[in-house]
Amino acid sequence: MGDTARKPNHRSRRGRLLTPANLLFFRNFLKHPSRIGWLLPSSPRLVNEVLRQVDWDRARLIVEYGPGTGQFTEPVLERMRPDAHLIALEINADFVAYLNGAIKDPRLHLVRESAAQIDAVLARLGFAQADYVISGIPFATLPHQLRDTIVRKTHSVLRPTGRFLVYQLSDSVLPYLEAVFGQVSRGVEILHILPARLYYCSP
Ligand SMILES: C[S@@+](CC[C@H](N)C(=O)[O-])C[C@H]1O[C@@H](n2cnc3c(N)ncnc32)[C@H](O)[C@@H]1O
Repeated sequence: MGDTARKPNHRSRRGRLLTPANLLFFRNFLKHPSRIGWLLPSSPRLVNEVLRQVDWDRARLIVEYGPGTGQFTEPVLERMRPDAHLIALEINADFVAYLNGAIKDPRLHLVRESAAQIDAVLARLGFAQADYVISGIPFATLPHQLRDTIVRKTHSVLRPTGRFLVYQLSDSVLPYLEAVFGQVSRGVEILHILPARLYYCSP
């Protein structure tokens, strides 16, 4: 494996607020506040903290819910194995168009579908179970039934050794996670300005 495939590289994102990606994110937050959840993409500190949980040698299939402008997507691709796959589910058409233009990597399968369809998407793409699911979708603003469906389906597609890595502004998803996952550990990191709650779940 070439080292370059796994080294973090946030040069294009670090320290600059008014990037085209951030402006696109902010404009979409104004259009769909409840679906986007917060004003700006996640901070590199938060991304690094969540991605510290991943065993990159073991991970063959990673799923990302709500990649937005790719704040996690690019670092995941930089770190993951050459033979691993990343399936990203995003419902926002502007973000899907942006990511299709910005990221050219055959290991990325970007799908314009809801996280609630994860089981059908995996089956359609010919994958069985995921090693990690990473999610920043704003559970706090989703209806009860949708939160419940996404959490239960995520549990059903994870390997027994898999993990669901969740970052959120509120703790409203915690009871849903605790109802389904055997173990949920917690952390905190700066999302952009506000603190994010981190939940690391094992089946
Ligand atoms: C807070 S943003 C996170 C963006 C990016 N991952 C980050 O950390 O900067 C939430 C993202 O989830 C997407 N989203 C919301 N509901 C979704 C759903 N049911 N399925 C997939 N994506 C969803 C939104 O369109 C948005 O891109």
